Amino acid sequence: MLEHITAAPPDAILGLTEAFKLDPNPHKVNLGAGVFVDEQGRTPILATVKAAEAALLAAAQTKSYMPIAGDPQYRRLVQELVFGAGHPVLAAGRAQTAQTPGGTAALRVGADFLHKFFPQAAVWLSQPTWANHRGVFAAAGFAVKDYPYYSAATQDLDTPALLAALRQVPAGDIVLLHACCHNPTGVDLTPAAWAEVAAIAAERRWLPFVDFAYQGYGDGLEADRAGVLALAERCPEMLISSSFSKNFGLYQDRTGALTLLGADAPGTAAAFSNIEIAIRVNYSNPPAHGALIVRHILKTPALAQQWRGELDAMRQHITGVRHKFVEGLKRHGVPGDYSFIARQKGMFSFSGLTATQVAWLRAEKSIYIVGGGRINVAGITPANMDYLCTAVAAALQA
Ligand code: LMR
Repeated sequence: MLEHITAAPPDAILGLTEAFKLDPNPHKVNLGAGVFVDEQGRTPILATVKAAEAALLAAAQTKSYMPIAGDPQYRRLVQELVFGAGHPVLAAGRAQTAQTPGGTAALRVGADFLHKFFPQAAVWLSQPTWANHRGVFAAAGFAVKDYPYYSAATQDLDTPALLAALRQVPAGDIVLLHACCHNPTGVDLTPAAWAEVAAIAAERRWLPFVDFAYQGYGDGLEADRAGVLALAERCPEMLISSSFSKNFGLYQDRTGALTLLGADAPGTAAAFSNIEIAIRVNYSNPPAHGALIVRHILKTPALAQQWRGELDAMRQHITGVRHKFVEGLKRHGVPGDYSFIARQKGMFSFSGLTATQVAWLRAEKSIYIVGGGRINVAGITPANMDYLCTAVAAALQA
């Protein structure tokens, strides 16, 4: 049966990491997958995560199953992170959260749940978007469509085109929005644009599905929820996927959450019970380790405060790298104005490099960038900055 199956292409993002590992060039630079790297080129375990792990190891009594929807206290703490403690939707019981293995599982569980009840709906993705969004929603059975988002000409949000397209999305369809640190462009909606999007969603009656993978990497934990809060103000229903890969550095521990917002508590509970079914048939119940770390940190005031400091430091580091990268390109005589890189938010920069230039950088310089020209700015270090800038200058002339 299997002999006629042809090989799948490597993953557009994680496939780069594998190719990078095999590359013998000592100067190689991995700017592919969205992973934070410090000045020394390491992806460290946060001190608060180490402290939580030590406490968990000492206190652990059992490896018995988690509930299908995960740990109850973690689920509550995630809601407070997403909406802010004391937000009216929490007091009204309108939010239910499931602990999931990373943000990807949150997207997939949400997609499976929605497809069961709305198989005719289309899912609308920003053009461009994270390479895996299309795969996840298509795998769940959805027709996937695009809405305009980014203007290459202005290196900014194409707000008129975005709003016009969202006004045309039919009622009952699903629109995937990035809460902050848009992946791959680093260009976010302004508060005014969020208010308009929320009003359009409420009026047109399509369902927002918000990917919140980078909370704290844009302008800070609170500021980054502005889009979610604008939607919650106007829209009775939405889904939100959270990831703690980046803000807690828990990449390999697959730690995330899916939050469902409903019009009232009983309706939310009924719908959420079907999310539990979607989980049960996918992976039964979530892995514990990462979520217990997040729970321990968030429920321990001193650790929670220390973690905020660690997160702020990672964000500020990336902002610093953005500015140094812009200066470096200028210093190496790269023509054009690259100041837009310093304005972008989160880990990524949409560099404007063409597919040919991206391929050339990989083949000739062992610099790994996602097709489409997305650079993981968080992967640039003092040690590789000059090599990178020289190579980009050469790529533009090649
Ligand atoms: C990325 O976009 O690089 C990250 O979210 C890692 C991934 O899973 O693709």
